[in-house]
Amino acid sequence: MWLGWLSVAVVLAARATATEQPSWAYSPPYYPSPWASGQGEWEDAYDKARTFVSQLTLTEKVNLTTGVGWMEEACVGQVGAIPRMGFRSLCMQDGPLGIRFADYVTAFPAGINVGATWSKDLAYLRGRAMGAEQRDKGVDVQLGPAIGPLGRSPDGGRNWEGFGPDPVLSGNLVSQTIKGIQDVGVIACVKHFIANEQERFRQAPEARGYGFNISESSSSNVDDVTMHELYLWPFADAVRAGVGAVMCSYNQINNSYGCSNSYTQNKLLKGELGFQGFIMSDWQAHHSGVGDALAGLDMSMPGDTLFLTGRSYWGPNLTIAVTNGTIPQWRVDDMAVRIMAAYYKVHRDRSQVPINFNSWTRNEFGYLHAGVQEGYGRVNEKINVRGRHAVVARKVASASTVLLKNNGVLPLNGKEDFTAIVGEDAGPNLWGPNSCPDRGCANGTLAMGWGSGTADFPYLVTPAQAIESEIALKGVGNVMSVFDNYATSQIKSVVSQSTVSLVFVNAGSGEGYISVDGNEGDRKNLTLWKNGDELVETVASLCNNTIVVMHTAGPVLVDKWYDHPNVTAILWAGLPGQESGNALADVIYGRVNPGAKSPFTWGKTAEDYGVSILKAPNAGTKAPQVDFKEGIFIDYRRFDKMNTEPIYEFGFGLSYTTFAFSDIRIESLQAEPYAPTEGYTTPAPNFGNSSDELQFPSGFSQVRLYIYPWLNSTNLKEASMDPEYGLPTEEYVPPGATDGRSQPLLAAGGGPGGNPGLYEELFKVSVTITNTGKKTGDEVPQLYVSLGGPNDAKVVLRGFDRITLRPGQSTVWRTSLTRRDISNWDPVAQNWVVTAHPKTVYVGNSSRNLLLSAPLTSSSARL
Ligand code: NOJ
Repeated sequence: MWLGWLSVAVVLAARATATEQPSWAYSPPYYPSPWASGQGEWEDAYDKARTFVSQLTLTEKVNLTTGVGWMEEACVGQVGAIPRMGFRSLCMQDGPLGIRFADYVTAFPAGINVGATWSKDLAYLRGRAMGAEQRDKGVDVQLGPAIGPLGRSPDGGRNWEGFGPDPVLSGNLVSQTIKGIQDVGVIACVKHFIANEQERFRQAPEARGYGFNISESSSSNVDDVTMHELYLWPFADAVRAGVGAVMCSYNQINNSYGCSNSYTQNKLLKGELGFQGFIMSDWQAHHSGVGDALAGLDMSMPGDTLFLTGRSYWGPNLTIAVTNGTIPQWRVDDMAVRIMAAYYKVHRDRSQVPINFNSWTRNEFGYLHAGVQEGYGRVNEKINVRGRHAVVARKVASASTVLLKNNGVLPLNGKEDFTAIVGEDAGPNLWGPNSCPDRGCANGTLAMGWGSGTADFPYLVTPAQAIESEIALKGVGNVMSVFDNYATSQIKSVVSQSTVSLVFVNAGSGEGYISVDGNEGDRKNLTLWKNGDELVETVASLCNNTIVVMHTAGPVLVDKWYDHPNVTAILWAGLPGQESGNALADVIYGRVNPGAKSPFTWGKTAEDYGVSILKAPNAGTKAPQVDFKEGIFIDYRRFDKMNTEPIYEFGFGLSYTTFAFSDIRIESLQAEPYAPTEGYTTPAPNFGNSSDELQFPSGFSQVRLYIYPWLNSTNLKEASMDPEYGLPTEEYVPPGATDGRSQPLLAAGGGPGGNPGLYEELFKVSVTITNTGKKTGDEVPQLYVSLGGPNDAKVVLRGFDRITLRPGQSTVWRTSLTRRDISNWDPVAQNWVVTAHPKTVYVGNSSRNLLLSAPLTSSSARL
C-alpha cells in the first residue's frame, strides 16, 4: 500500500470539519518535524546514538522504527533487529502498574493510588521496582506511566491508570515514576498523548463492536489555554524528567489524529517542550505513512496497519518513501537517533538481558511467532523478578488508603467481640484472581481495573483473608464473612450479632475493548456496583458501628449513606493491587496511620462534575466531536467555580492524629527577567549514507505476515502495491514539511519541558506544621495559588509534600514557586506570562481547608 492517499485523507479531514466546529477545533499544521539536538541531559546519549545510527543502512534504520506485527514476537510490541550490529529487537511491554502478560511479577497498586499517597518518594520507589521487574524480564520500554487520561470526567474508563485530574499532582508523580523506571535501566513511555479522555469512540472499529457506526475516532476539541494549563502540563514535567518515549493516542485532537497531528507532536511536544526521545504510536493508532512521519511519529506500533494484515504504513513503505525522496533522509535519521538516544540515556546497552517471557502464553513452551503459529520452542523461562517488591506494593497500598470519615471507631484492635465482613468485594474471585482476561470482570474484591494497564496477580490477599487472620491470631473475637451481596437474610443474621461490621463495595472501569456489565471501558454511571448502596444501608440499619470500605476506580456517589449515623467510618482503598488485604488491615488495625488524601473530588451528584464522557455520536457517521468547553474547569476547579459543595473535596483525608498549620512566610527571590527563547536550530543532520540492497536478501525465509523493511521488487511502484503511486507530492506533503534548513526556535521552548525561565524559582514559601495529636502520622501540606484573573480557577494546586511527624513534633515545610507556577498561557503571545492580577498563596491540607494565606507581592516587573 502506498502512503500518499492516506496522508491526503488525514490533511483534508482536518480542514473539512474545521468550518463546522469552534475555531479551536482545528489543528494548524506545524512543520518541519523538529530534529533532536541532544539538549539538556541528553548530550551523551545523543552522541552515542549518532555514532550508532551513522553506521546503519536505510533498511536497518527503518527496522528500528517499525514493529514486526501483532503477536509476531514475545512482547506486546517489538521492532526489527539489526543482526549486523549485534542489536536485538527492542521489546515494548505494558504497563503502568506492572508487567502485563507475564508470570512471577508484582501487581502493584494502580496509578490512582499513587495519586492518593501524594508521596513523591513512594512514586519513585514504585517506579523503580516496576522498572527493575521489566528490566529483568528483558523489556526495553515500559508502556507507562499514564497521565492521559488526566481525568476530565469521573466516568473516564482509564482514569485510574494515572494519578488523578490535577496537572500538578500528576506532573510531580509522573516525574518520579519515570525517574524510578529509568534509573534502573528501562525506557519509560508516558502515554497517551494527548486529550485521550474517554474510551468511547476512541477507535472506529471498536465502536462498531458496541453498536455505533462511525468512520473515524472521536476528536477531543481543546483550546490552546486549556491545552497548556491542563493537559500538556504533566507532559512537560515528564519531558523535564527525561522520559525516553511518548505514546501518541487513538483520539483526534482538534480533528487531526494523535499520531498524525503535526501541531501536538511537532510544535508542542518536540518544539515547545523540547522532547528528545521518540514518539511511538498506540496500537493501531498509526493512520498514514508519509503524513505521520512528517507529523513527528518515530515508531509504528505494533507495525502492521491493523493486527496481522501483514502490511504496514512504514516498514517497506518507509524504505520506499525515503528512497524516492518523499520523506527526507534526515527525518528517518532523526527517528532512529531519537530511539537510540532513549536507549543510551537509560543505559540499555548495560542493562539489557534477553527477553525471557512470552506475552501470548504462560506455558514454558509455545510458538515463537504466536500470531501465525510458527516456530516452536521454549518461550517462557518463568524467571521470578519480584524481589522484595511486595513490601513496596504493600506500603503504597496502605499509604494510599484515604480515611474519609471516622467517628472515633478506627483504628480497631482486633479483639472486638464480633466482626462481620460483608460484601463480595471482601472476598476472592471464585475463578481465581487472573481468570478474567486483562481482569475484565467483576468477581470478588477489586484490586485493579481492566485492560492493557493490568498485570497478572502472583497472589491476591483479599480483605477478608487479612482481617480474619488478624482476628484469629488475637484469639479473642468472632469473625464471620458473607460474600454474597444478595444474601440479605444471611447478611442480616450475621450483622445483627456483630459489634462492628465492615462492609465492602466497589465500582470498576477499564479499557474500551472490554465491557463489564454494560461499562464499555468508561463507567456507565457513578454508582456502586452490585447493589452496593442497598448493601451499606442494610448493614447500617442493623449495626451501629458500620465501617464502609470502597474499592473503586474513581469517585462514586456516596450521598445515600455517608452521613448515616451508624456509618461510623469510611475508607477508600482505590485499586490496591496484590497486597490489598494486608495494606487495609495495616490501616484498620492502626499499624499504619492513614495519611492519604483524595486525588479527586467526591460530588453529591454526577451532574456536579459538569462534564461526563460523550455517550452518543454527534456528527452522524463522522468523527464524534468532544468539545472540551469546560476548559480548565474540571474536578475541584469546577466545584469551586460553581460554588458546589462536594461531599469530600480534592485533597481531603483524615488521620488518627491531628495537625496544625502556622506561620506562613514568603520570600521573594532575585530572578532574571523572563526571556523568550530566540534564535535558530542547526540544519537537520543526516547520519551516514550507507546504501544497501533494498530487496529481501536472497534465500531469506520469511515469517508469515511479519513486517520487514525490505522490498519484494526492484521497481518502487510495484513494491508499494499502490495504484496511486506517483501522485504529485504537493497533493499530500504539507508545505515546509521536508525543509531541513535551520528553523526558528519557539519563544516558549528552549529546554526540556519548555523555556528554562519557566522553572526558575521566584518565591520561597515556608509553613510550620505541628502534630497536635497523640500518634505519629503523615500530613500532606498543599500549596494552592490564586492566579487572580477573571478566567482563572479560584485556586490551583502548585506544590505538596508528605511529611511524617511524631506527637508534638513541629517542622518547617519549605517549598518554592517557579515562574511557571504563577503564569498563564497567553494564546496570542504563544508564551507564558505573569499577569498583573493580584495573586495569593494558600497552604492547607485540602483544596477547601486553606488554613493560611499570603499575597504574592513581588514587583511584577521582574517576573
Ligand atoms: C492499547 C492501549 O491504549 C495502550 O495503553 C497499550 O500500551 C497498548 N494497547 C499496547 O497494549
